Amino acid sequence: MAVIGIMDSGVGGLSVFREIRRLMPDQHYIYYADNANCPYGDKSPEFIKDRLHAITDLFLGKGVQAMVLACNTATAAGVEDLRAAYGIPFVGMEPAVKPAALGTQSGVIGVLATAGTLKGSKYLNTKDKFSDRIKIEERVGRGFVELVEQGKLTGPEAEEVVEASLGPLLATGADRIVLGCTHYPFLLESLQAVASRLGYPEVRFIDPAPAVAARLKQVLAEKGLSLCDTYPGAEFLASGNDETLMHFVSGNNLPVL
Ligand code: DGL
Repeated sequence: MAVIGIMDSGVGGLSVFREIRRLMPDQHYIYYADNANCPYGDKSPEFIKDRLHAITDLFLGKGVQAMVLACNTATAAGVEDLRAAYGIPFVGMEPAVKPAALGTQSGVIGVLATAGTLKGSKYLNTKDKFSDRIKIEERVGRGFVELVEQGKLTGPEAEEVVEASLGPLLATGADRIVLGCTHYPFLLESLQAVASRLGYPEVRFIDPAPAVAARLKQVLAEKGLSLCDTYPGAEFLASGNDETLMHFVSGNNLPVL
């Protein structure tokens, strides 16, 4: 069993955590929501890097042996910096452009992400690799993170916010929409409802979380991180108000895709 730290700017990373725990139920997890500083989307890379160092130090103090940046924006801003500074393995997020590009019938894919992720060099390099074969349209999911942090995942308000960013993306002809922010999978029901109402019931939304969980499993095996003397389970920490976090994780409230 290994001790694994998982961080995000808020509850979004739980969409990754649920896949990780499904795949590896016997590890010990510490989840950290930096929600006092949420959203990360419009913050500077320097600010996010400072937060990542502070969170990594906290995790190391708790015996964390591997860390997941369950946040596309944090990965874009600081995963390389963390790898250079610390000796533990880091697994990050990247918008799932490849599966979308391979699956598209229309030749157009949409990417929904934060401004920070769309500006990141990792994403720009990936985009470059595919942009001669397919058209890639992008939109920031304006207000999506705030909705999820308030626990408003469905209903008229959620659909109105979702439609403002998703509608123009669907109008480009995109038939695969990459969910490039870990908060967005929690809005899947609203995203699908809006797509159907606007006349695009066939559109598919792509979440990289299962691939990230598989990658983490591979990394743990490569590093021989399968034994430690703690117990399997999970701890949940927040830098701000932990009401939504605790609501999501208590009982069976963690929405399942
Ligand atoms: N969930 C995060 C991501 O994947 C961060 C969203 C935010 O704080 O703006 O990008």
